[in-house]
Amino acid sequence: MLIGIDKIGFATPKYQLKMTELAMARDVEPAKYSEGLLLDALSIAPISEDIVTLAASAAQSMLTDEDKEKIDMVIVATESSIDQSKAAAVYVHALLGIQPFARSFEMKEACYSATAALNYAKLHIEKSPTSRVLVIASDIAKYGIQSAGEPTQGAGSLAMLVTANPRILAFKDDNVAQTRDVMDFWRPNYSEVPFVNGMYSTKQYLDSLTTTWAEYQKRTGLTMADFTAFCFHLPFPKLALKGLNKLMTKDLALPHQEQLKENFEHSIAYSKQVGNIYTGSLYLGLLSLLENAKTLQAGDRLGFFSYGSGAVSEIFSGLLVEGFENQLSSTRQNDLDQRTPLSISEYEQLFFEQAQLDENGSVSFAEHQTNTFRLTGIEQHQRQYSKVD
Ligand code: HMG
Repeated sequence: MLIGIDKIGFATPKYQLKMTELAMARDVEPAKYSEGLLLDALSIAPISEDIVTLAASAAQSMLTDEDKEKIDMVIVATESSIDQSKAAAVYVHALLGIQPFARSFEMKEACYSATAALNYAKLHIEKSPTSRVLVIASDIAKYGIQSAGEPTQGAGSLAMLVTANPRILAFKDDNVAQTRDVMDFWRPNYSEVPFVNGMYSTKQYLDSLTTTWAEYQKRTGLTMADFTAFCFHLPFPKLALKGLNKLMTKDLALPHQEQLKENFEHSIAYSKQVGNIYTGSLYLGLLSLLENAKTLQAGDRLGFFSYGSGAVSEIFSGLLVEGFENQLSSTRQNDLDQRTPLSISEYEQLFFEQAQLDENGSVSFAEHQTNTFRLTGIEQHQRQYSKVD
């Protein structure tokens, strides 16, 4: 039985910070961001747009009423949780009106957790082939004003419907994972922003890539010659480019090298404009590849490198399914272009606004632009969501 991704939806905040604006304010050469990190803009979330509104909006953009009747599992993968107990997936299940006899829960391991969620979804479909599982990667990456990680922030949600006989990508059973206990990036419960050993984290990313790839090759016998494209976790696209260069070997035919490079450029097109969306960023790379590449064909093998700090990594592959192009959007670039550009002071105010609760634990938020769902406020410590008309 083929199992994989049947549909993909995406939501990112309606505001953006251009990297040139950030560079000017931080007295940095603009080329450091545009060439050094390969970033052009970051999506900026206001207080009324959280991981729940982004997740529900991403899923709403692709689900039909029939899907909502058939989905029996909702998994939200995130490291920017809004609650230590209640899963974001429970809010999302309610906002979307999914039938009640479903499991809804949250998964975490930094930027790796959406990959774990896809694996879990696959196991469920193996047992229950008529089920549909909604996997949503939803995060807001916030490092802090004037921090080293500031240019690598971002926000967004990637929703994937996992089914039997999928219409986009069929998973191959070739996953190889690696766990190593390292302190490259972590966020204790008492901190709003992560602690980061920036350079060390890039070394861990690249070393996890090469060692997992060596083990993957040993177990599967596959080489880069078997792949049409390779998607990487994208904390910032330049690091993934370094990753691609590590996997390219000299014996690879020149036209194939060119094809891999060209497809890589397509895979980073959206992340360049959105920034890091943590666990969704690998899958935003997939969406970007599918919606921008012109030469992909059914049967092409795509490779994936998932990396979550801490650290867990995984390499796996999937085959494109006949008619995959019919499941994609042609308006995505336009949607990204439509985001409102922010000045540096607007960004600092909007992205870092904190809820000021009154003595009852209540507050209502200004009506910032959001996607289909909005966090309207908090009432007695309970988050209040509504659908935007
Ligand atoms: P930095 O201070 O910008 O580093 O920090 P840099 O000074 O080395 O500059 C970066 C690049 O810009 C370099 O390119 C410079 O040469 C270049 P490279 O040598 O590496 O190819 N550069 C210029 N290029 C053109 N013109 C110029 C110019 N000046 C410099 N004028 C760092 C970079 C990544 C450390 C920082 O942004 C950071 O801490 N980011 C957050 C951590 C991160 O993203 N780590 C990635 C790996 S860990 C991961 O992926 C997991 C994660 O997603 C979290 C999770 O799993 O949950 C983060």
